[in-house]
Amino acid sequence: MMDLFRYDFDYTWPWTLGHVMATVVFGLLTVLVWRAGWSRLAAAATGTLAVWALVGAFIVHGPMRFNRPMDLPTERFLSSGSGRVLDAGAGSGRSALMVLLGRPQASVVALDLFLEGYGIGENTPDRLRANARVAGVEDRLEVQTGDLRQMPLESASFDAVVSAYAIDHLDPDGIRSSLSEVSRVLRPGGELLLMVVNPDGWTRVAFPLFGAHGYFGGRGAAERWRGAVVEAGFEIVEEGTAAATLFLLVRKGAAATD
Ligand SMILES: C[S@@+](CC[C@H](N)C(=O)[O-])C[C@H]1O[C@@H](n2cnc3c(N)ncnc32)[C@H](O)[C@@H]1O
Repeated sequence: MMDLFRYDFDYTWPWTLGHVMATVVFGLLTVLVWRAGWSRLAAAATGTLAVWALVGAFIVHGPMRFNRPMDLPTERFLSSGSGRVLDAGAGSGRSALMVLLGRPQASVVALDLFLEGYGIGENTPDRLRANARVAGVEDRLEVQTGDLRQMPLESASFDAVVSAYAIDHLDPDGIRSSLSEVSRVLRPGGELLLMVVNPDGWTRVAFPLFGAHGYFGGRGAAERWRGAVVEAGFEIVEEGTAAATLFLLVRKGAAATD
């Protein structure tokens, strides 16, 4: 939690401050209702909402790390410790920093169209670079603007790819094209760490109204993702979960050329 105020990934206030604000509002209401001697039931209800909001704030800033670089969900990703990594859908930098901090010998190319509407207020290459500067890793980062579905990148030019909460925003054709592009830019034997939103217990407590996420979300999501990566020619090395996350670590066949 020490690095909570160090970075500015600029996820918008409903995500980062919504629970804190709700804690204050429901907390004050509880005190008011209690002091005024109104119904105990009303005080219990507002008190319960204040506790829920406080727990939500801890989840959002603790396990979900909305304003902190994520932790790699598996130690098996880029286990050699070095190499050229693509972050496909890097946004303001949480996933690029996850790799750069977790694998200090690796370099990262951060690819994104830097679109609005993905929860990041000011989604720009400059913000991504600023966060890399704060982490002291900007010398190992290159930022490139481009589409995941048609990457402006050379074939077989990466040892590994990470993609966090980006490909799962695309429609089924987009998912297919982007996984095929990931396979093209990976060298034979290269690996992809695919992280997608998983509405797990953490998510349901913090965001009770949050439903299935994206076209592949909902019941059977893991199976759909497994099918999509296998269809794109990958073999599955590991599958697991982290807070609000389903991840698949997959490898491009050593014999494949693109
Ligand atoms: C929710 S953000 C995730 C950013 C970052 N990986 C993280 O974990 O904080 C999704 C990102 O995907 C990018 N994105 C969505 N569709 C894209 C596309 N077709 N090509 C490139 N980037 C795309 C958005 O611009 C946004 O930055």
